[in-house]
Amino acid sequence: TKTGELREHPIHLRDIIPLDFNSIRSVPDSHVWPISDDFSSDHQLLVPIIDLKDPNAVKLAGHACETWGAFQVINHGIHLNLLEEVESEARRLFSLPTQTKMKALREPAGATGYGQARISPFFPNYMWHEGFTIMDSPTDHARALWPTDSARFCDVIERYQKQMKVLAEKLTDLILESLAIFREDLNWDVGSPSTALQLNSYPPCPNPNRAMGLAPHTDTSFLTILHQGSTSGLQIFKQGTGWISVLPVSGALVVNVGDLLHILTNARFPSVLHRAVLNQEGFHRLSVAYFYGLPIDCRVSPLLKLLDSGESPRYRPVTVKEYVDIKSKNFEEPLTSIRI
Ligand code: SIN
Ligand code: FE2
Repeated sequence: TKTGELREHPIHLRDIIPLDFNSIRSVPDSHVWPISDDFSSDHQLLVPIIDLKDPNAVKLAGHACETWGAFQVINHGIHLNLLEEVESEARRLFSLPTQTKMKALREPAGATGYGQARISPFFPNYMWHEGFTIMDSPTDHARALWPTDSARFCDVIERYQKQMKVLAEKLTDLILESLAIFREDLNWDVGSPSTALQLNSYPPCPNPNRAMGLAPHTDTSFLTILHQGSTSGLQIFKQGTGWISVLPVSGALVVNVGDLLHILTNARFPSVLHRAVLNQEGFHRLSVAYFYGLPIDCRVSPLLKLLDSGESPRYRPVTVKEYVDIKSKNFEEPLTSIRI
């Protein structure tokens, strides 16, 4: 099977600590993925690129969410400078010696810090990936990495988080408008949105065809905004077609539908399966994902207003907290677990 059975639960330290990518010269068995996984994608289809200043943006976004579960945005209001800064801070972080990075380890129980892909415990093979998760503030972990010089990193991250939140809200409004849903139709006032920032590093790999950057998964978010640098690697799965590369467009950000939006729309906007492959030798690819979720106590269920006549809701109501828990127990098919 592709995703296999769960490794031990709860998560153990060896599931947290990445390889020492600075010294490795070949792909160890633990990181080899079955050759049956074809990483190539020969489809010429392009994920829609939506200009937020286009008067048709609402309609285009709705259509892209429905047919792709993803799109790229331009004219999104985030300065190119800030995109470059966050990428260069991520590069500076991951270029630190392994010993230093280990000082900022994501504790098994905690959530901020350095470590393997967070989805790693759900797969039998390890990924060619190291990450740095920021749930709230990076201050303490940044100080562990740069005892005398953590201010620059924290400043860039804080500015990026603020601007991503503004953009995520703008995109949420756009998507709700495309569905003719008003905020008043929703019960989102039960707390503040849950958000997280994830810096991803895919170190140069001696054999990119045998290793996996980030295994196929859907995001638990409402929506995710991904800044992928100029190196390709992100692929999304399009029903009826297969894996499609999301080619980097300078300055564009990738937006994808997460599980919560999937549930709310009764699967009209599908939570898109995606992965990161290592298809270019010698490149150190970085990406920065901003997960925008709903308040943890928010109850999510298909909006009756969106159902066609005769269509019944596919999913039972769950709070975000319950859904996160369900997904941690059934990572492969979390949505099936809440089917009516
Ligand atoms: C992700 O799915 O969080 C990141 C994908 C990528 O690095 O392109
Ligand atoms: Fe993802």
